[in-house]
Amino acid sequence: MRNAVTIAGTGSYLPEKVMTNDDLSKIVDTNDEWIFSRTGIRERRIAAEGEFTSHLATKAAEKAIEDSGIAAEDIDLIIVATITPDTLTPATACYVQENIGAKKAVAFDISAACSGFLYAMKIAKRMIEGGASTNALIIGAEKLSAFVNWTDRTTCVLFGDGAGAAVLRKSEEGEGEIIATDIGTDGAQTHLLNIPGGGSACPTTVKNAGEGLAALAMSGQEVFKHAVRRMKTSANTVIERAGLQPEDIALVIPHQANVRIIDAIADRLAVPNDRVFVNLHKYGNTSAAAIAIALDEANHTGKIKRGDKIVMVAFGAGMTWAAAAIEW
Ligand code: UT7
Repeated sequence: MRNAVTIAGTGSYLPEKVMTNDDLSKIVDTNDEWIFSRTGIRERRIAAEGEFTSHLATKAAEKAIEDSGIAAEDIDLIIVATITPDTLTPATACYVQENIGAKKAVAFDISAACSGFLYAMKIAKRMIEGGASTNALIIGAEKLSAFVNWTDRTTCVLFGDGAGAAVLRKSEEGEGEIIATDIGTDGAQTHLLNIPGGGSACPTTVKNAGEGLAALAMSGQEVFKHAVRRMKTSANTVIERAGLQPEDIALVIPHQANVRIIDAIADRLAVPNDRVFVNLHKYGNTSAAAIAIALDEANHTGKIKRGDKIVMVAFGAGMTWAAAAIEW
């Protein structure tokens, strides 16, 4: 019997508030020309006060569930990939479970930074294949605006808030499937991209509260080099496992961090730019949410159709990387 897993529905949610590069130039010493030419970002979304990661995740999840045609009460697994949870404990997935009414679902978070949504996809796929889940909801959701140092121009211009989700279930005859997945980690590079404060290594205290330690810190150029190398290798791994040639790939959905990284990946994979999905000019880098949002936009704007082969590839703090080859 066929034991394949398919994506039955997708959804995404972006907060209403738009912050443009010009808005940022009023906060830190920067300008639209620098930000756009170095990154490809024009604007990003910022969650409202009182709007948390779980709220963004819930809205994306509700759309994905509706799109899938599966009832929320039939979801039995919820994985939220995030580095910006509502609370250190419980997991953001627990709030989502309650919000969507998926009473019988087991719910937990994973922390794999920008690779998180594809990590979640691999875990859910394996759980469905192994019989531990029937209908899985995977979500990438981030409120990065709460973990950005708004006085540091080298990082605050890069990130944004948002969420994307997908419902996974067994694939029936004639439907698409997740053909191949790849995930990897290099713990020797933890120093290149992290949030140093707010955890057990450096808890936020009355004394250090003003030092901005619970904010993203990054060695941009080093991360850039690792990103290109790891994403190329990971994408090629799933392309080979799926038996694809560059011309077979209808769309590459790369992590949305920097358009120069995306161009370098497209070049190395020999896929023309018009078959590479880019939306970071609108949202900036939304970490674990980025590929999930992009997949939903590609799905609902007709960029991908039944039978298309698509490759998703991500890279993030850890360092982590991940890729998936899918028949839609
Ligand atoms: O999602 C996880 C993965 N993350 C990534 O993939 C990020 C990877 N890294 C990058 O995307 C790029 O390295 C950045 C966009 C972060 C930075 O671009 P860059 O071309 O590597 O710039 P840089 O760090 O070498 O900085 C160049 C100059 C510096 O000035 P000097 O030293 O040349 O005088 C910076 O101080 O640009 C300056 N600079 C800025 N100027 C205006 C840095 N940030 C800004 C800014 N506005 N926002």
